[in-house]
Amino acid sequence: MKLGLNLSFAIKRWLGGERLAALVANELETRYVQFTWDLVDPDWPASTRDTLAREYATAFAAAGVTVESTFGGLASYTFNHILAPTPELRALGKAHLRNAIDMTAAMEVPAAGMPLGSFSADDAVNPARREEIYKMALEAYVDLARHAREQGLSMLLVEPVPLATEFPASAEEALRLMTDLDGQTDVPVRLCVDWGHAMFKPLFGEKATMEHWMEVVGNYIATFHIQQHDGLYDRHWNFTRDGLITPQILSDFWDRHELDEQTYFLEIIYPFEEPDAVVLEDMKAAMKMLRSV
Ligand SMILES: [Fe+2]
Ligand SMILES: [Fe+2]
Repeated sequence: MKLGLNLSFAIKRWLGGERLAALVANELETRYVQFTWDLVDPDWPASTRDTLAREYATAFAAAGVTVESTFGGLASYTFNHILAPTPELRALGKAHLRNAIDMTAAMEVPAAGMPLGSFSADDAVNPARREEIYKMALEAYVDLARHAREQGLSMLLVEPVPLATEFPASAEEALRLMTDLDGQTDVPVRLCVDWGHAMFKPLFGEKATMEHWMEVVGNYIATFHIQQHDGLYDRHWNFTRDGLITPQILSDFWDRHELDEQTYFLEIIYPFEEPDAVVLEDMKAAMKMLRSV
């Protein structure tokens, strides 16, 4: 299986391209990464932002590490973005992804992604409002995909999230988004499916299996996030902990579905209070486990 690292484990800890690239290449021995916007915020002033982002990109390239995509992290996920209740907030959400596309282009990385957005509590239970805002979100993605192509990107990614107040949550909702956008955008919009989101039992019940997701939207899945979890919350634990997934399950799934191009990006979010040395040792132990199958 093709193993990569989402860089969320590193936020606030290992900063700067040289430091992080050395850690990723030498200590965690990975050649593929997904760069999190929690290291460089797309909404920072563009010239400073791009200088910082390029420094990471240059250092990773020098270390022989490919940055396959950039992705929204914790800071980005705090906001409702293009599914927000007001035109002002939705415009800011659209600008956020546009800024991320620009930063990704400055890094010469081919793809950028994030969850689509979140409805407010009131809109989430109002089917007419959901539909109205969703239609506008589709238009926004057509515009954003045009901008992505102009900037030299070749793909945008959307990550389904396990909340009924967001969209897409289920595999069926993800299929609707993919079908609605298919052929309408200047670069393809595809899915980044997180194992911990897809297997969320409280929302999906019997359909909380990766097999179900593959059946429904397998053709649209460009990449994966992997994490350990208990099916009850979106834990983002590492595989050093017991839970519903084992490295063997990941490996068997990879083989059974004859995956090839996709990457399993390990996406671990540690408590901020976890000591740096503990995080590094835990990351090393998990990578060793994942490589051993
Ligand atoms: Fe994820
Ligand atoms: Fe998550």
